[in-house]
Amino acid sequence: MCGIVGYCGNKQAAPILLEGLGKLEYRGYDSAGIAVRDGADKVRIVKAKGRLAELANKTDDGKAMKGSCGIGHTRWATHGEPSENNAHPHHSDDYEVVGVHNGIIENYIEIKDKLLKKDYTFYSETDTEAVVKLIDYYYKKYRLGPVDALAKTMVRVRGSYALAVMFKDYPDEIWVARKDSPMIIGVDKNASFVASDVPAILKYTRNVYYIGNMEMACLKDKEVHFYNIDGEEIGKDLTNVEWDAEAAEKGGFEHFMMKEIHEQPVAVRDTINAYLKDDNSIDLEGVGLKDEDLKMLSEVHIAACGSAYHVGMVARYVIEKLARVPVRVELASEFRYRNPILAPDSLVIAISQSGETADTLAAIREAKKLGIKTMGIVNVVGSTIARESDHVMYTMAGPEIAVATTKAYSAQLIAMYLFAIKLAFVRGNIDGKRYDELLNELRTLPDKIERSLEDKERLQWFTAKFSNVHDVFFIGRGIDYAISLEGSLKMKEISYVHSGAYAAGELKHGTISLVEDGTLIIGVLTQSDLYEKTLSNMVEVKSRGAYLCGITSSGHYEIEDTADFTVYIPKTEEIFEASLAVVPLQLMGYYMSVARGLDVDKPRNLAKSVTVE
Ligand code: G6P
Repeated sequence: MCGIVGYCGNKQAAPILLEGLGKLEYRGYDSAGIAVRDGADKVRIVKAKGRLAELANKTDDGKAMKGSCGIGHTRWATHGEPSENNAHPHHSDDYEVVGVHNGIIENYIEIKDKLLKKDYTFYSETDTEAVVKLIDYYYKKYRLGPVDALAKTMVRVRGSYALAVMFKDYPDEIWVARKDSPMIIGVDKNASFVASDVPAILKYTRNVYYIGNMEMACLKDKEVHFYNIDGEEIGKDLTNVEWDAEAAEKGGFEHFMMKEIHEQPVAVRDTINAYLKDDNSIDLEGVGLKDEDLKMLSEVHIAACGSAYHVGMVARYVIEKLARVPVRVELASEFRYRNPILAPDSLVIAISQSGETADTLAAIREAKKLGIKTMGIVNVVGSTIARESDHVMYTMAGPEIAVATTKAYSAQLIAMYLFAIKLAFVRGNIDGKRYDELLNELRTLPDKIERSLEDKERLQWFTAKFSNVHDVFFIGRGIDYAISLEGSLKMKEISYVHSGAYAAGELKHGTISLVEDGTLIIGVLTQSDLYEKTLSNMVEVKSRGAYLCGITSSGHYEIEDTADFTVYIPKTEEIFEASLAVVPLQLMGYYMSVARGLDVDKPRNLAKSVTVE
């Protein structure tokens, strides 16, 4: 979603801001803007609708804007259409206070009404303009310094925000405030940075501070000060971010998505190595989960969104099969408002790449409110879900830039497999022999994913043939159904082709009426006990004219009697098949998007990290 970058140092700010915003493009946006102060001069604000290239054109790549302190923003429209007028930064009527904002101010209409009565005027439809003007109001009315003006504003507004604000009277400073929207502060020898996401500043520094909820900070070139809501200065520890800048570059691939698809073997290997020791023990000590806790568990609830939810769907089959602990998987946006019934000795697991998804975070908070233990499966170190969960299991996927997730999904699967195997072993549901068998096989997955990638030319050819298709249906049973859900999401989100995933046995209850000559149906058949069943569902749709693609594991060559096009993935333990079958599905989505000439990494209307509900 929206991105924030701020710079305070001894170099020209605008080129750095543009570069940082470029690194956040993947989050999704529809307009952008920067504001720079050059000492006591009036602030300069330049904004543009559309891509960052527009803003770069208007400012000669930033070179036309003097000043070494500035803030920048990429906006993903929520309040008001995408337009230059609604783009950030927003400013007070006299330009003395200028700010950018991520999040949603829920009571902005009430704030606007209040300010209208105080003779303020409004030029945009945004909630941000209201909050910037509220800061200005408190700042001037009470002649308060920035810290008190911000604190008063924070008490008055409802909703979520990461705010970066500049005041005319403090020309070399950026003031920030945060609640429920991600924001980090980076420091280098001669500069301070603020950003909504790590990749924006990785080129300059890996030393970051995490600013907490309802906290503020003041950035100067050589120092940063933090404050709580009472305006008292507080201390913070500096953290070193291990991701390197190169990981956030395309590295010779045409798109980030393709690069990240190819990074899956590494992401999976790194995640395995983070928890699985040479003697095959699964070390969850760092996660804080003791064997005793696992023995006591009566049920597991998984809450997540998008692809992370699909990981949860796979995990349900795996945990229930191995550990015989009941699992309920729920979309986080539903969980949070359902007043869920949770047994006291249950565990709520939130799966989230970003660790910032608003609904998933709310699910964790809901569980905590009910006194239930929580665990986050998170990729971004120090993210809000990581900080607020009782336990955190980090996935080691590194920065993921393409909006459509691939390597983070794969790393999340590994975390869930490890959790399931450990749970099953501790509770005595599997013996030592089976435990070793599973883990030895788990270690082979990176190589098998690598082999699954070898088929990509055939998949490119097949997908291009169908580039004008209107609908694609994905079918499977059990884990294959869970995999189908992810395949369908990959297809629709980047190629804009309508697609749906169905439990194969459910087709006859409605969906089959949509099948006609040439309808493309992709069957996933990796589970031996369900293979025949799904195959017979495929025969049923074939006899109604469907064109069939079958994805199965090597050896099931008889599928060629039924399917028109087949994809074989290496054999593995059936509970791990999602890790392999997802690869051709990701490639199909990718090639469909390329064949249709679309923006693979930044699909329309979507955001990488959905920080509003
Ligand atoms: C967005 C992304 C998806 C992702 C979902 C959940 O919709 O486009 O790829 O699966 O959010 O994100 P999270 O960061 O919580 O995993």
